[in-house]
Amino acid sequence: MGQTGIAVVGAGYWGPNLVRNFAADEGSTVRWVCDLDLARAGRLAGRYGVTGVTDSLTEVLADPDVRGVAIATPARTHGKIAEACIEAGKDVLIEKPLAADVESGRAIVEKADAAGAIVMTDHTFCYTSAVGRIRETVRGGDLGSFHYYDSVRINLGLVQSDVDVIWDLAPHDFSILDFIVPDGVNPVSVSAVGSDPLGVGHACVAYVTVTMSNGAIAHVHLNWLSPIKVRSVMIGGSDRMLVWDDTRPTQRISIYDTTATIGDLSERERREALVSYRIGDMVAPALPEVEALAEVAREFREAIESRRAPATDGWAGLRVLTLLDAASRSLESGGQAIAV
Ligand SMILES: NC(=O)c1ccc[n+]([C@@H]2O[C@H](COP(=O)([O-])OP(=O)(O)OC[C@H]3O[C@@H](n4cnc5c(N)ncnc54)[C@H](O)[C@@H]3O)[C@@H](O)[C@H]2O)c1
Repeated sequence: MGQTGIAVVGAGYWGPNLVRNFAADEGSTVRWVCDLDLARAGRLAGRYGVTGVTDSLTEVLADPDVRGVAIATPARTHGKIAEACIEAGKDVLIEKPLAADVESGRAIVEKADAAGAIVMTDHTFCYTSAVGRIRETVRGGDLGSFHYYDSVRINLGLVQSDVDVIWDLAPHDFSILDFIVPDGVNPVSVSAVGSDPLGVGHACVAYVTVTMSNGAIAHVHLNWLSPIKVRSVMIGGSDRMLVWDDTRPTQRISIYDTTATIGDLSERERREALVSYRIGDMVAPALPEVEALAEVAREFREAIESRRAPATDGWAGLRVLTLLDAASRSLESGGQAIAV
């Protein structure tokens, strides 16, 4: 099979990572770098020997050898660009979040389904070996039934001008949650509170809670104003518990053979909280160090070639967008639970 032709639209902060990884992917050829800022597109293309440089999406879409378009422009532009690509018969890889609002995200995935086009959402974390292992562990039942997901994603971050801390950071947790929960466990409601201590016009600190259909709960703590960087997720199950510390490369994942049970107790014993605890061994599985975006590039190319849905398809992007939208509405209402 020949090389799969790829175009990357958007050469700002994230686009160069996509160009680098598609250029390194042995089955892909980057045919175009497109950006409204032509000089920026030219500089990026030059670094990887890409000959197609343009500020015109029309020119990219007219190239019959382009099969997939990777879109790394601001979220508000994703809908228009993605729909034009689909109309031109191309498959699309869209950066997170899928779109700036649910309506435009839904329009993309419905249009793609009708046209038989592939939509992949770049939920980058889902392609890390840590999240792959967490998915296997949770969905494979090693933790028992799924009880909670508790994430702290804080650092002294770049305060964004166009999005709040929820839209900046929560896509990571929402996409991981979507990827790892067992089939049949779905979000039921979202509530969010936040604050804007700097007066930038949107939340810089936020706490988001998602309730799940099996009674499990997910909580995400997001903060751009933390003096330290923490990237930690704890996942509780009925049989084991898991801690993922992404700032600890030598031991990212620890699985604790620890449980808290109340067994087969009478109503009175339950009220008296006669909980028994079992504290067992901890194992830290070895994980291969792979660049997640290399896996993203490979997954997109393989989905194009084999006409199959990618692991994080457009519908996954739409589910994440629905949670983001609900979190924003809850924030505006002072923390009311919004059904999803
Ligand atoms: N997967 C991740 O972890 C991750 C990380 C960072 C950013 N992102 C996502 O990547 C996307 C881009 O973010 P960024 O930080 O690179 O933005 P950016 O503002 O740095 O770059 C965007 C680029 O797109 C260009 N552009 C805008 N509209 C265009 C159009 N209609 N046609 C062609 N080019 C256009 C701009 O000129 C700019 O060069 C966003 O969706 C963002 O959320 C994802």
